[in-house]
Amino acid sequence: MKTDFLVIGSGAAGMSFALQAAEHGHVTIVTKGELDECNTNYAQGGICSVTYEPDTFEKHIEDTLVCGAGKCDRDAVELVVRQAPAMIRRLIEWGTRFDRTPDGRFELHREGGHSESRILHHEDLTGAEIERALIESVRRHPNITVLEHHFAIDLLTQHHLGEFVTRHTRGLACFGAYVLDTGTGEIETILSKFTVAATGGCGNIYSTTTNPVVATGDGIAMCHRAKAITQNMEFIQFHPTSLYNPGERPSFLITEAMRGYGAILRLQNGREFMDKYHPMRSLAPRDVVARSIYHEMKRRGEEFVYLDVTHKDAEQTRTHFPNIYEKCLSIGIDITKDMIPVTPAAHYCCGGVKVDLNGETSIKRLYALGETSCTGLHGANRLASNSLIEAVVYADRAAAHAVAHLDSVEIQEGIPEWNFEGTQHTEEMLMLLQSKREVQSIMTNYVGIVRSNLSLKRAMRRLSILFEETEELYGKTKPNRDLCELRNMIAVAYLTIKQGRELKESVGCHYNTDYPKEISNQ
Ligand code: FAD
Ligand code: SIN
Repeated sequence: MKTDFLVIGSGAAGMSFALQAAEHGHVTIVTKGELDECNTNYAQGGICSVTYEPDTFEKHIEDTLVCGAGKCDRDAVELVVRQAPAMIRRLIEWGTRFDRTPDGRFELHREGGHSESRILHHEDLTGAEIERALIESVRRHPNITVLEHHFAIDLLTQHHLGEFVTRHTRGLACFGAYVLDTGTGEIETILSKFTVAATGGCGNIYSTTTNPVVATGDGIAMCHRAKAITQNMEFIQFHPTSLYNPGERPSFLITEAMRGYGAILRLQNGREFMDKYHPMRSLAPRDVVARSIYHEMKRRGEEFVYLDVTHKDAEQTRTHFPNIYEKCLSIGIDITKDMIPVTPAAHYCCGGVKVDLNGETSIKRLYALGETSCTGLHGANRLASNSLIEAVVYADRAAAHAVAHLDSVEIQEGIPEWNFEGTQHTEEMLMLLQSKREVQSIMTNYVGIVRSNLSLKRAMRRLSILFEETEELYGKTKPNRDLCELRNMIAVAYLTIKQGRELKESVGCHYNTDYPKEISNQ
């Protein structure tokens, strides 16, 4: 199969790239489940953009830099913040509806770490609304082919032409991907002029996560295997307030916008505690809130704290957060009367595949977008609601860059078909599930909100056993989705631990007790 643009992933990043590239050539989107199975669909709080005074670009830039704890790339921050309003207009053109006040202005929310209200939203279901609009536009577009239940296994480079390649090989380029049709078990070779890894994040390397099951870090792992450069993987962001409801996966998010609206974090005994840790109290940056909750839970031996919104007007609470209201009610919690039990959960990967200001990776003609990428916007800790806007701004940049080079690029010939020789279907599906759980347990126990040199070393040792066992199985097995995901989770866990061991300080989302700091210290 041949296409101008191969897009792997159907979240905000992949689909907004597709819609722009499709004006100039043929786009094929492959996605491993249904189109709407993605992190984007779960986003609640909203999408950042400077909209009205007294907000300014400078304030949004400053908030992002402060939250990123000195590790942001200023050019990336400037790009995203200044391009945001134009991309909001584009999302509206594609059909997204953001909430407005009775006088027709956008209704803006505020979340942790923001000095102004600048978060556009659609009720508390912003991601689902963006995803709906993008899906409708993609389905209508005559130049876009969508292949659901198609799992990208590996990216094609000169390696597949028999050349020896390393992370330093000059002129390393991407020619497409091997893609597994999970319905038939066939592996297709999809050749493309440009390839986009937009496969989202990797929350499922942890036992408790807000991410849906598709978020297994596939794009980051594929790019790493293809010899692209990754960075900042140690900065895994834990969301402070996921609903404490043991056994539920993914963990249901209680949006930070609720704290922006006035909700207060309390201990199980009802006492407020964030004033001990940060002047912004419940609205402090996310890493500070998550560590403070962790600290209190650990020293008290408790599994959750409370988020209290009972002092706010009940009708307003139901209007602003209808989805959360209904969800909590379904498990017996009326949030207008009862406090909500919450606990931190793995939420967002601030690192990923290193890209330039056009979203291009260290491999030519390969772009990484959205949560798969590391643009430098987030530094050591992402400012709330900065990721959807990053995804669409960089998709726009990447599409413009690829389109400008479209006529000078040829499809690469001579790539061999997938070699099934010596492989069989596996009967070890239960073992794959157990291995996935082992990865999650290693990461949760040793590479969580708080780590140490010893815990990282232990994690690496235990992971290396899983790595060896899984590679052995992979060598003799016809690929299936579970096996490929396990392999990718191990690769991403490895990068998180390795890059965490290389960082000799506590900063942002990476807190190592061997480099102690005040909990509130950035
Ligand atoms: P995704 O939307 O995750 O899309 C990835 C796509 O890749 C999926 O379609 C997936 O099926 C596909 N895929 C993965 N692997 C493969 C493979 N091997 N082959 C083929 N397809 C594959 N951010 C904000 O800015 N504001 C918010 O309010 C907000 N709230 C959030 C709430 C929750 C509960 C969560 C989980 C995240 C939230 N985020 C929020 C973060 C934000 O949603 C994500 O970072 C963003 O949506 C990522 O978009 P994406 O396009 O990069 O990836
Ligand atoms: C939330 O709504 O709290 C999530 C926002 C985000 O992750 O950016």
